[in-house]
Amino acid sequence: AKTTRIAVTPGDGIGPEVVAEAVRCLETLRARHSLDMEWARFPWPSHAWHEEHGESMPQDALDQLQKYDAILLGALGDPGPVDDPDRYLLSDSVSLAPLLDMRKGFDQWVCERPARLLPGARQYLADERAKDIDMLVIRENSEGEYVSQGGRLRKGTPDEVATQIEVFTRKATDRIIRYGFEQARNRATNRVNEGRTRTFKTLDGRTCESQVCLVTKRNALRYWGDMYTEAFEAISKEYPDVATHHELVDAACMKFVQSPWAFDVVVASNLQGDILTDLAAVLSGGMGVAPSCNLNPTNPDMPSMFEPTHGSAPDIAGQGLADPTAMLFTTARMLEWLGRKDPKIAAAGKELFDAVAADLAENAGTRRGTHEIGAAIRKRLSE
Ligand code: IPM
Ligand code: MN
Repeated sequence: AKTTRIAVTPGDGIGPEVVAEAVRCLETLRARHSLDMEWARFPWPSHAWHEEHGESMPQDALDQLQKYDAILLGALGDPGPVDDPDRYLLSDSVSLAPLLDMRKGFDQWVCERPARLLPGARQYLADERAKDIDMLVIRENSEGEYVSQGGRLRKGTPDEVATQIEVFTRKATDRIIRYGFEQARNRATNRVNEGRTRTFKTLDGRTCESQVCLVTKRNALRYWGDMYTEAFEAISKEYPDVATHHELVDAACMKFVQSPWAFDVVVASNLQGDILTDLAAVLSGGMGVAPSCNLNPTNPDMPSMFEPTHGSAPDIAGQGLADPTAMLFTTARMLEWLGRKDPKIAAAGKELFDAVAADLAENAGTRRGTHEIGAAIRKRLSE
């Protein structure tokens, strides 16, 4: 078998701090289980690289990264000195672009953002049922509102017009919806194995063990809304064992807060998924614990990218305060993904997930630094 290779890109702000804990956990796991796995560290993309070289990453960055099986990314975006009033105006967008370049360049067309309120995580909703929150938001990651087409006409004049075009293709729509149904099935199977079944009702009154909720804004954004709905209805026929549901995005926001425990898999467009996943992250304990990944499930020659939902948090960067939990859950997901080709790596991913979850459960409400949390988790891994 071929050695599994990871490109580690710490990025900006708290990125390097949380990535350092992830790499130490990888070292522990590799040593304990003799994993055939190696990694290389890249100082880009980052704001620091930009300062020095006038670009966030080298011209051939994607070619270099493509040689790896996965990219483990900390966080991107350095808005500059906290006391600079113009800090959000320029540098922010400069250093974020590579994130979108990587998603596009490696055709990472799925963004998976699980939102499960694990024991010990901060519970923002007072309702007792919040303990049952366990959803997976699947964000279309290749097109839609993020195609970056359009422009500014008569720029700078009172008659300026900005256009921002959204593009939705049937192929990308079908594949993301199908992916959603497959994940719903997998989740049902995993729950059965763990002895925690859930039930969902179909519109015609049948009971299913999983559900996919499609989110659109089809009452106003008709063209893609109708195409998504038709694709959803057609594909759902291949999955009679999965209950289906449709929400408009505004109502979905309301229901995410009112009854988030009623959701299982949620499929949303690029922008609507972006917005819903910040909300879902808070429902499941906040940005400190929310994992994320950008996957290319179809082309094995393209690396997938694993980065927590949180940003670079420049306000707390460099102080050892950032919670590495989200980064470590993300790393566990990366190992699980890489483990598709190497069962030992998959087992290490499960072990890391369990260690991070156990650490969270045992330390509810305590204030601990980045390194303290990382060290506690590594201690668990070595026991
Ligand atoms: C995310 C982020 C990015 C996005 C930004 C930084 C471009 O918010 O990963 O959710 O909008 O996709
Ligand atoms: Mn976002």
